[in-house]
Amino acid sequence: MTTTAPEFSSPFMDQLRDLLRWRRDVRHFRPDPVPEAVLDELLRTACLAPSVGLSEPWRFVRVDDPARRAAVRADFTRCNAAALADRDGPDALRYARLKLAGLDDAPHHVAVFSHPDPAQGRGLGRATMPQTTTWSTVMAIHTFWLAATAAGVGVGWVSIIDPDRIAAVLEMDPALELVAYLCVGYPAAPASTPELERRGWERRAPERRQWVRR
Ligand SMILES: Cc1cc2nc3c(=O)[nH]c(=O)nc-3n(C[C@H](O)[C@H](O)[C@H](O)COP(=O)(O)O)c2cc1C
Repeated sequence: MTTTAPEFSSPFMDQLRDLLRWRRDVRHFRPDPVPEAVLDELLRTACLAPSVGLSEPWRFVRVDDPARRAAVRADFTRCNAAALADRDGPDALRYARLKLAGLDDAPHHVAVFSHPDPAQGRGLGRATMPQTTTWSTVMAIHTFWLAATAAGVGVGWVSIIDPDRIAAVLEMDPALELVAYLCVGYPAAPASTPELERRGWERRAPERRQWVRR
């Protein structure tokens, strides 16, 4: 069977670059929910991501139950307080001023797990680099993030949580590892630069835009 691949026009390439530039980690959300059909489409698009051996090790979990969400928020509060306690002086003050999760206002919570040893893919490509299953799941998360941005939906990645505790709260198969906890919803405001940059915490490094050559 012959197929014709689409040609991506120059205006499309400009828009793709805009999409990549405008993808943001979102921590401030509007309360209105994202239609289920849109969320379903984002999940289907995420599953177009590459994966080691075509193993598709990702598992996207919608966290709807208020009690489980409250437990996740409590865990974030605990872990964030511990992270703050590890800092002192002006650094601690600056850290304390950051908003590092939109768990309270995001209308949707999505936990993303990865299977470290999935039957699918039959082990191909993983013998010397077993982490490749995790990386595959990260590819799916990034694909989800970009598709969400294109649909006007914001995503915020929360990693200041205890993965084992979150897995227990969600009663997941202990074989699965938590890779990301995502807040999802319409952003309160668009932003062309990272929030951490706008708040003076960190800046993009221009030298990373250069090739290293060997
Ligand atoms: C693996 C990973 C974990 C992250 N964890 C957090 C987090 O716990 N809290 C937070 O506010 N942002 C988190 N972020 C978002 C980063 O802070 C954000 O991507 C970075 O500041 C660049 O901003 P941008 O995504 O808007 O371009 C995480 C991002 C990644 C890729």
